[in-house]
Amino acid sequence: MAQAGADRKLRVVMVGCGFFARNHLMAWHHLEGAELVGVCDLDKSRAAAFAGLIAQAGNTPPAVFDDLAGMLDALRPDLVDVVTTMESHEALVGICARKGVATICQKPFAPDLAAVRRIVALAEQAGIPLMIHENFRFQGPMVQLRQALDQGVIGTPVAARLSWRCGFDVFKGQPYLAKVERLVLLDLVIHLFDLARFLFGDVDRILARTQKVRPGIAGEDGAVCLLEHGGGVVSEVLGSYHTRIDPDPFPETLIRVDGTKGHLEVRQGYQLVIHGPDGVTHRSIAPVAPDWGDPVWAMVQESVLNTQAHFLEAIRTGQEAATSAQDNEKTFALVEAAYRSSAEGRWVDLATV
Ligand SMILES: NC(=O)c1ccc[n+]([C@@H]2O[C@H](COP(=O)([O-])OP(=O)(O)OC[C@H]3O[C@@H](n4cnc5c(N)ncnc54)[C@H](O)[C@@H]3O)[C@@H](O)[C@H]2O)c1
Repeated sequence: MAQAGADRKLRVVMVGCGFFARNHLMAWHHLEGAELVGVCDLDKSRAAAFAGLIAQAGNTPPAVFDDLAGMLDALRPDLVDVVTTMESHEALVGICARKGVATICQKPFAPDLAAVRRIVALAEQAGIPLMIHENFRFQGPMVQLRQALDQGVIGTPVAARLSWRCGFDVFKGQPYLAKVERLVLLDLVIHLFDLARFLFGDVDRILARTQKVRPGIAGEDGAVCLLEHGGGVVSEVLGSYHTRIDPDPFPETLIRVDGTKGHLEVRQGYQLVIHGPDGVTHRSIAPVAPDWGDPVWAMVQESVLNTQAHFLEAIRTGQEAATSAQDNEKTFALVEAAYRSSAEGRWVDLATV
């Protein structure tokens, strides 16, 4: 990978200016090492609205486009941020690969594992850095949890539970999700699988069961999964869009890890409680809200900022990003294996996926 000069801002363009992309827009705008020079959407008025948000604050707005290839020819950026839904990723990353531009692409990588593998091959053949915007492992609280585990505060992890179950109405902001046939595993649990890999390493096999509770949606909205990690940890991963809890924990992942010398919990309200050999400690691991953030979305927005900062750093240093295309293929394989497991009612070995 070519290294960029440390003193030069990298010129960034975004494609996709919908529901989630506003977080990307604000993060690129505020990141020191980036200069957002273009925004693109098939619906040009959405791109124009994004440029308007930047101009409002008295800053030079990015140029507005409705065609990615045209934007790349006109602006010759250092990197492209693809913030569209998964069906368009293969075509859009293909354009970036043909133009030889480093790319970061939102999750889910693609609708299925075969498409993921085609895109990985495209990027490898073109020699472009390709990172997936898998942001849960970049959440401040999760980074602090990983640090505590690395410090051995509970000895060696043995068993864990990662739970993201709430009643937050995802269909309000993302109405297209009601029509998606593969819903909770592909849209949400994929983040938890990545987090489980980040905390406990790669997975050998998986047992999963999906559930559909909410009427009128095409896909499943709940899943319970059991993962056997190669290093010996067994983790339980639970995801749901139908669980009624008051107060609702959105957007927090609640975690329990048992180790050889104690256990720890990440409790609602960003509390890390460690039951270690020397007693119990309580620590706040609350996220730091960006200036442009909203209190409910603070952790999400902080993680977007951290994810984008990581990609900038990867390009500057020539290092592979932590959630590179190759790495994310492993997370995606877990999703594919989980659907197979649920359909066939049996454990699925990752080596067979
Ligand atoms: N990481 C997270 O925490 C998180 C949260 C929410 C959404 N997402 C992901 O972000 C992605 C986008 O989701 P969204 O809810 O913002 O979608 P959206 O439908 O609101 O926005 C997508 C935008 O992309 C545009 N678009 C589609 N194809 C295009 C093309 N070929 N060229 C130019 N523009 C094109 C559409 O016109 C639309 O404006 C999804 O993959 C979703 O899963 C991630």
